[in-house]
Amino acid sequence: MLAKIFLELTEFSWFRRIAWKPIYNHLAKQFPYDDWVFMNYGYEPADPAERPELDASDEPDRYPLQLYHFLATRTEIKDKTMLEVGSGRGGGASYIARYLKPEQITGMDIANHAVEFAGKRHQSPNLRYVTGNAEAIPFGDESFDVVINVESSHAYGSVERFFSEVRRVLRPGGYFLITDMRDPKNLASFEETLLASGLQMASKEVISERVVQAIELEDDLKRARIRKQIPARYVKFFEEFGGVKGSQIDKDLRSGSLVYFWYVMRKV
Ligand SMILES: C[S@@+](CC[C@H](N)C(=O)[O-])C[C@H]1O[C@@H](n2cnc3c(N)ncnc32)[C@H](O)[C@@H]1O
Repeated sequence: MLAKIFLELTEFSWFRRIAWKPIYNHLAKQFPYDDWVFMNYGYEPADPAERPELDASDEPDRYPLQLYHFLATRTEIKDKTMLEVGSGRGGGASYIARYLKPEQITGMDIANHAVEFAGKRHQSPNLRYVTGNAEAIPFGDESFDVVINVESSHAYGSVERFFSEVRRVLRPGGYFLITDMRDPKNLASFEETLLASGLQMASKEVISERVVQAIELEDDLKRARIRKQIPARYVKFFEEFGGVKGSQIDKDLRSGSLVYFWYVMRKV
């Protein structure tokens, strides 16, 4: 019942603005586990031969990390200057810094405790984390070649303001890579808002099936991790939040009542 009320309230921008930051801050403070560095539902390519090779230490995070890998490699990022908006516990920016070698990647998140956690947990010479709001990005005009955004935009008060900020901080010719999910009835207006920002669409794809497959493949590991780390009274909540097989998110992505997508946009 409470979960249903919460979800209904997230339809309102004022509620999204006040609700998400304390939740992600609380999670970072209360559960500062070093091996929990991603908070997305993952991705598995249709052709397993396309899977990236990983160091053994990154293997347990294969599926959430692959969401970053396959989105980030939609454009050339080697030696580029990158910003991640909504970097969470920092695993995605760290993967990009270490494997895909941009000149610099800055992970930015509104939840300051998540930013502190990420800064302590991940180190690479071309990586840093800062606190900041997607609706008022704390960087000057034309500061970045690429902006990436993974499973975060659904939490923003105004995506219109976010897209306008992305356009402002991107250099001409720069790329905006975004992946997230929406109720299909809101997808057309999401795309209209994206195009109204003045960014040009290079490509888009619905990836729900790929995400569902990742949920399926990661299920045993995800459940085992939750049971090992989380006090018994919170296990049910974390299984829902983490999207185990059979959770509402899994059902909605399978039935099509939620659509997972990515867009590659360019500032011309
Ligand atoms: C589902 S998590 C995804 C984190 C990360 N991208 C990943 O895949 O592991 C969503 C993240 O968006 C962040 N977020 C929510 N609202 C934000 C805002 N207005 N500005 C920046 N980050 C925000 C949250 O604090 C949270 O860390």
